[in-house]
Amino acid sequence: ASGGSAASEGPKPLDELVVGFAQVGAESGWRTANTKDIQASFEEAGIELKFSDAQQKQENQIKAIRSYIQQQVDVIAFSPVVETGWDAVLNEAKAAGIPVVLTDRAVDSQDDSLYVSFLGSDFVKEGEKAGQWVLDEYADATEPVKIIQLEGTTGAAPAIDRAEGFADVISANPNLQVVASQTGDFTRAGGKQVTEALLKSNPDVDLIYAHNDDMGLGAIEAIEAAGMEPGVDIKIVTVDAVHDGMQALADGKINFIVECSPLLGKQLIDIVKQINDGETPEKRIITEETTFTQDEAIEALPDRQY
Ligand code: AHR
Repeated sequence: ASGGSAASEGPKPLDELVVGFAQVGAESGWRTANTKDIQASFEEAGIELKFSDAQQKQENQIKAIRSYIQQQVDVIAFSPVVETGWDAVLNEAKAAGIPVVLTDRAVDSQDDSLYVSFLGSDFVKEGEKAGQWVLDEYADATEPVKIIQLEGTTGAAPAIDRAEGFADVISANPNLQVVASQTGDFTRAGGKQVTEALLKSNPDVDLIYAHNDDMGLGAIEAIEAAGMEPGVDIKIVTVDAVHDGMQALADGKINFIVECSPLLGKQLIDIVKQINDGETPEKRIITEETTFTQDEAIEALPDRQY
């Protein structure tokens, strides 16, 4: 790596480029698929990737970014564990002339010159799609429908936005009531533990909305341990559509999944190449995604890559 801006010095050969990637952690099936895809895409492109896993801690991510700045990598990419608190370190990257690309998650900053591009899903829309399924499913309900929400990591963009989109859509029917909402930190263990506790105070819950598949899979374990049938006694809606989630949907234990694609590697490579060529990448690139019912999951599963 050289430091300095590629644009002013002309493009480098790809095998001389170095990109530092600060990953959130390995909290979910989604994250594992995302890491694999990014590593494979860099390998394929012949671009060196320095990779770090922050174990879901912002301080670790900040440390990793500072070390990439010190190593004068050509581009820094990262998926911010939470939305706030990035201005200082991103200003350091800017001062060092190193472009930053956000992948998957957004930062909440007034200054959008701190990153060149943000590649990832529209999490509000994902929450809206989950809400729409619930709204349709209970269109004829004449009594309250009790909902438990399993939130992602507190302060993370997908947790904030998926809650917002969902709440917005279900507000059209006052019978749809979120009776409890707690974080399961996007992990299976967290989803299980929170569901166990919340089922004690809300044994008559109708539906669980989990901000990712892993927490939904944890909820399935808790529901079964309580002697109930997931997908039947308590319906479950999740986000991601990773393999284990899709299998549970195919098996009727989850009722609906909103897709969130972890396959961001190729698009990240395109952005890195554009930066290297002195071009300006699009500021916001939104991933294309769908939703899955049980039948659609059965059809999609054999070709699912992750
Ligand atoms: O930021 C994307 C979210 O993070 C995924 O939905 C979740 O599974 C992951 O941990």
